[in-house]
Amino acid sequence: MQVTMTVNGTEVTSEVEPRLLLVHFLRDHLRLTGTHWGCDTSNCGTCVVWMDGEPVKSCTVLAAMASGHEVRTVEGLAHDDGTLDAIQQGFMQCHGLQCGFCTPGMMMTTRALLDRNPHPSEGEIREAISGQICRCTGYATIVRSVQWAAEHPDGTVPATTDEPAAAPAEPATEPAAGATQPVPAGSAS
Ligand code: FES
Ligand code: FES
Repeated sequence: MQVTMTVNGTEVTSEVEPRLLLVHFLRDHLRLTGTHWGCDTSNCGTCVVWMDGEPVKSCTVLAAMASGHEVRTVEGLAHDDGTLDAIQQGFMQCHGLQCGFCTPGMMMTTRALLDRNPHPSEGEIREAISGQICRCTGYATIVRSVQWAAEHPDGTVPATTDEPAAAPAEPATEPAAGATQPVPAGSAS
């Protein structure tokens, strides 16, 4: 069957099997491999993309169901001029990832959270990602990354105000006139 959808702002049309899942359509037909496929049982959440602006687990959606809709993947999170979205910058600034496998889904879910709730509480962040699994971070840095993005909505990293430590004074390279030179070990006396 033929499906047509808008993916990251570009209309795509393709022939697919009616049973093809959206996650496989994105990864295998469009080569948008930023969307990960982890469990196939709708538990891990690494496959989250947006459909018409709402996060969905793309392993629970047929490509045919997405036909006629607007899909956005992690490849479409950055701005048109190439600058990172605040949530991407937050994950960088706060070490919100280790292996990175859960990260695309985490970012798509939490970006959507910030769009509807620009200043979520820690509990609201944890609730938003409760359908997603991270096996590395213990979630604390993910929560902090989302809080950073909420505090810096344009994603701009504040310039540091710390002055670099003053360099130590260079030792004199020329011995003072008449000073005794050290004798290298093993040299003839
Ligand atoms: Fe979709 Fe795990 S692959 S929830
Ligand atoms: Fe490895 Fe989350 S960073 S699973």
